[in-house]
Amino acid sequence: MNADGEGRSGRPLLLLVGGGTGLVGRALLEEFRRDHRIRSIHRSPSAREIALGVEVLRADIGLVRDWAPILEDVDLLVNLAWYRGGSDRRFRPLAEGLERMFVAAAAARIPRVVHISVPPATPELEAHLPYMVRKREVDAALARSGLDYAILTPTMLWGPGDRLLTVMLRTIQRWHRLPMFGDGAYHVSPVAAADLARIVRREAGRGGRTVVPIGGPRRWTYRDLTDRLFRALGRPPRYLEWSAARGRRIARFLETIGSTLIYAYEVDWLVSDLLGLPPYEGLDPPLKDVEPFLDAEAARLLGPRLASAPGGDG
Ligand SMILES: NC(=O)c1ccc[n+]([C@@H]2O[C@H](COP(=O)([O-])OP(=O)(O)OC[C@H]3O[C@@H](n4cnc5c(N)ncnc54)[C@H](OP(=O)(O)O)[C@@H]3O)[C@@H](O)[C@H]2O)c1
Repeated sequence: MNADGEGRSGRPLLLLVGGGTGLVGRALLEEFRRDHRIRSIHRSPSAREIALGVEVLRADIGLVRDWAPILEDVDLLVNLAWYRGGSDRRFRPLAEGLERMFVAAAAARIPRVVHISVPPATPELEAHLPYMVRKREVDAALARSGLDYAILTPTMLWGPGDRLLTVMLRTIQRWHRLPMFGDGAYHVSPVAAADLARIVRREAGRGGRTVVPIGGPRRWTYRDLTDRLFRALGRPPRYLEWSAARGRRIARFLETIGSTLIYAYEVDWLVSDLLGLPPYEGLDPPLKDVEPFLDAEAARLLGPRLASAPGGDG
């Protein structure tokens, strides 16, 4: 990049995003569109991206054979593409495609790569879960590629349309209760997807080869966080108190009937107490608290009649 914010082509910086339509992708586009041209590759059409002037390439990363034209003039490559669940039949081709992408990016001398990975999980999940095993293969492929990179490992993310906290709020609103796995004393430190997008910008501007753990501003016990969800909806906390083993069994059953509500590995990861990562330091303005988001989402669910019932903090 030169002093005028121009990239390798002599035009404004070009960002290539793998998976620009998901939770993080939407936040990333908002963060970068003011000063980058954006090229985005994923499988489904996206009217929103087109409306924002993004160059959309519709492709399955696992099937791309020739990366050279896609990588042309790219100044920054950010990979977000991954699946939340499924068997190795899904993960393996995507992992192999991402490995080919990194090899091609090194050949094309892409100046900087930021790849979103996940925090460490239990030895069992690391050794056997296709989601995790293939993710680590992709991380390792980037580490040996010769590229200049940051691998970011955020914990639970939140933001408009997320599939964790927003879904839990909807579950409470509908059923007035939530399952609690074990004692709920394990930790989570949720991070805003918008903050992760700002961290991507910050880490993209740094050099070197780093792995960056990312937690949000507060390390909650899981039960304190779920209590806070109930409070946002103006309800007393009510739990189906399940052992972790029972939670895992029920999650596995839900998976077999095609539900994406919760995956068995997510129960294991949660209760392992490995998701309470320390806050990412150095953002200005600082990391956002989750409470205002919970209250706004709850007010939206409750509708205009009850929206004035505050969740309150404390
Ligand atoms: N959400 C969290 O709480 C969380 C926490 C820690 C880490 N992460 C990591 O952060 C990254 C982004 O997460 P997210 O929640 O934004 O995911 P997401 O909402 O599921 O979005 C995934 C994106 O990847 C694209 N994609 C998936 N498979 C693809 C394929 N084969 N070829 C091309 N594009 C593909 C999807 O678009 P199409 O479906 O159109 O292809 C979508 O744009 C992931 O790597 C995830 O593991 C997420």
